[in-house]
Amino acid sequence: MHTVDHSQTIIELKDVCFSYTSEDVVKNVSLQIHKGDYVGIVGPNGGGKSTFLKLMLGILRPASGTVKLFGVDISQFKDWSKIGYVPQRTTVDANFPVTVEEFVMMGRYSRLGLFHFPKQDDRERVNKSLRQVEMYEYKNRQISELSGGQQQRVFIARALASEPEAIFLDEPTVGVDVKTQKQFYELLRSLNQKLDLTLVLVTHELDIAAHEATELGYINRTLEYYGEPKEFLKGDYFHELIGKGGIRH
Ligand SMILES: Nc1ncnc2c1ncn2[C@@H]1O[C@H](COP(=O)(O)OP(=O)(O)OP(=O)(O)O)[C@@H](O)[C@H]1O
Ligand SMILES: [Mg+2]
Repeated sequence: MHTVDHSQTIIELKDVCFSYTSEDVVKNVSLQIHKGDYVGIVGPNGGGKSTFLKLMLGILRPASGTVKLFGVDISQFKDWSKIGYVPQRTTVDANFPVTVEEFVMMGRYSRLGLFHFPKQDDRERVNKSLRQVEMYEYKNRQISELSGGQQQRVFIARALASEPEAIFLDEPTVGVDVKTQKQFYELLRSLNQKLDLTLVLVTHELDIAAHEATELGYINRTLEYYGEPKEFLKGDYFHELIGKGGIRH
């Protein structure tokens, strides 16, 4: 058994506010995510979930408040290979001529710089990532020739390829069939439990989030709830939120 310091803070937000225009989209959000946490984020459409992820990934900068990754202010943070990101569903253009292997290799670039030739250990890591998502046999296929669910797996393999400590996933199972979805959540669970990979998952599947995640967050401009999934489901509070829509139950 390996020992992991679950008290290590991976992400810390303090009083984070953000707006695209004049209206606040994310308001006064504070939270800490620790090593090995599996965080489920739910909330209505337009509630600010994707924005919240982008703030934690440095894609957007807060108007006020602070974001720290691994204890370092995000403006100073450089170790991006520690973080993987599976963005909200993007389909791969049919004219994008890349094989599955080449696509997953892109996940190594943050480590290797813009111009590089893959070395043996890059190839091995790419193969390992593809095996983890059970897509190794497809490595020479064009990515555009895969089904949506298979492409989703390849997106995850790309996020895994940099050997991250944390992965952010934005609605990764939209359009994926029930069986693939089930396998997908099993994969996430094993990555979380066996590798202590920290996961931040945005989803509309409340039942799954509540079942799989160790922490649940509800975002509707503010972080209205953050804590144990069980408590969230028990409270009247939760029924009130269902009335606002945006979650499947
Ligand atoms: N680039 C942008 N420019 C201006 N407004 C934006 C931009 N992106 C998002 N918004 C607005 O910010 C709000 C939050 O959007 P966000 O994408 O974070 O919501 P979400 O919770 O991820 O929703 P969904 O469940 O539909 O994915 C919405 O009102 C949206 O219209
Ligand atoms: Mg979104």
